[in-house]
Parts: sequence; structure tokens; C-alpha cells
Amino acid sequence: MVFHPALRYSHPSDFNPASVLDVMTTSKENAKRKRAMTDPIDKVNEKNDEKFIQEHLRPSADLDACYNLIEETSRPDYEASSTFDWKPVKKMAEMKSPELRYILVKNSEGDVRGFTSLMPTYEEGEPVVYCYEIHLKPELRGTGLGRLLMSFLESVAAHTPPIKKVMLTCFLTNRKALAFYKSMGFVQDPISPVPKKLRYGREFIPDYVIMSKSVESKAVLDTASS
Ligand SMILES: CC(C)(COP(=O)(O)OP(=O)(O)OC[C@H]1O[C@@H](n2cnc3c(N)ncnc32)[C@H](O)[C@@H]1OP(=O)(O)O)[C@@H](O)C(=O)NCCC(=O)NCCS
Repeated sequence: MVFHPALRYSHPSDFNPASVLDVMTTSKENAKRKRAMTDPIDKVNEKNDEKFIQEHLRPSADLDACYNLIEETSRPDYEASSTFDWKPVKKMAEMKSPELRYILVKNSEGDVRGFTSLMPTYEEGEPVVYCYEIHLKPELRGTGLGRLLMSFLESVAAHTPPIKKVMLTCFLTNRKALAFYKSMGFVQDPISPVPKKLRYGREFIPDYVIMSKSVESKAVLDTASS
């Protein structure tokens, strides 16, 4: 699992995508510097206070905050579902998947106030970027931040050939999230389950939808050889 550099804001109205990109550029440069450093103690001492606290003092704080956010926004949907259960241990195990990457939204105190998690993967044989989660604290909703986070997932898809799609699962009860995804061009994916008759007169009626959005591939630099 990789925690992406956190997006920063002091207040929703201060949120400026350009400053987000600045943070990412800086951290890339830091990453280059770190690669050159081999002594593990030097590496620790080079970290700023915030990174030191996050990675050495309370390493699971961000993950716990993400879990709490999912519980806060989606637990009722899980509990009402006939397909999925709210299972804390299972959810936490999924959240710790090594391939899962996080983009965190933090306030100036370093507290997680929102996040999205994603994974490039195969879904029924098709390469996709799967959006596992996207959650914002109530005061950050409707600020354009959700759109910005989804645009990062689309960017990953566009720069990861042969991926041509961002995919996600949404409970049908989550009308607001469905409206959000639709406004961003997501549509029901062909693999989304449809109602079907089961044995003994029973019927499967899905309470969730799989949605996807096609993205245009962009050329990527081959950094492996440089
Ligand atoms: C879903 C969520 C991430 C959306 O983020 P957001 O910051 O509120 O959304 P944005 O402000 O970026 O809105 C993006 C677009 O979606 C539309 N939209 C957002 N919420 C909407 C709603 N409730 N109804 C209709 N449209 C909505 C906006 O109108 C906007 O369209 P526009 O750019 O064309 O004007 C956020 O509301 C959230 O965290 N909800 C709770 C957690 C959740 O349900 N997550 C999804 C789990 S599947």
C-alpha cells in the first residue's frame, strides 16, 4: 500500500488545484534525493516533523482515519445491502492491500479529511483503474474536490496503457454518489449485474451498480531505461 502525498488545504474555499500539483512536484524531487541516500538513520532524520510523526510515531493513523471515514459515510449502505456486509476486519484487510494506492486530503493539522484509493487491475479480463473508495468529510463535499480526485484516477488510467477505463462500484441506495459519478460521465458498465432468476423461484436483484468511464490513452515516458 502506498500513501500518496497528501493534498493540502486550510479551508475548502482555499482549495487550489495548482497548489496540489506543486506539492506533488516537490515530493517527486524529495523522492529522487531519498534514492541517493542509503543510511537508514540518515533517511529517518531527513524527514520533516509531519512525515516523522506519520511514519514513525503513529504509522497507522492515516489508515485508521480513512477507515473511519468509510464507516461514517458508507456503513449504513453496507448494512442495508443484501450482497455486501459491513465486516471491519475484512474491510481493513482490503484497505491494506499492497497494490492499493491512496490520495489523501489533509487539513493544515495533518488530519485526513478525505481520500480516494485506486488500483490498476484486471476486471473480467479487462485492464482498468479501479476506484476502491472516494470519501470526503461533509464540509468538503460540493467543493469540486471529488471531481479533482476522480480526475487523478482518470489521469492514472490515461497514462497506464493498455488501461482505457476507470471503474467503480456504487450502492444503488447512494443516490448522491450516483449523481456525482453520472455528472462526471460514468455509465453502467456491461459487466454490471442484472436481475436474474435463481433456483427455487428465488431472484437476485442487485443493490449495486458497476460503473465505468472510458479514458483516452496518453503517451507515457519510458523511464525504465533512463
Ligand atoms: C461523492 C463525493 C466524493 C463527491 O465529491 P464532491 O466534492 O461532493 O463532488 P464535486 O463537488 O466535485 O461535484 C462534482 C460534480 O458532481 C455533481 N454532484 C456532486 N454531488 C451531487 C449530488 N448530491 N447530486 C447531484 N450532483 C452532484 C456536482 O454537481 C458536480 O457537477 P459539475 O462539476 O458539473 O457541477 C462526496 O460527496 C462524498 O464524499 N460523499 C460521501 C461518501 C460517498 O458517498 N462516497 C462514494 C461511495 S461509492
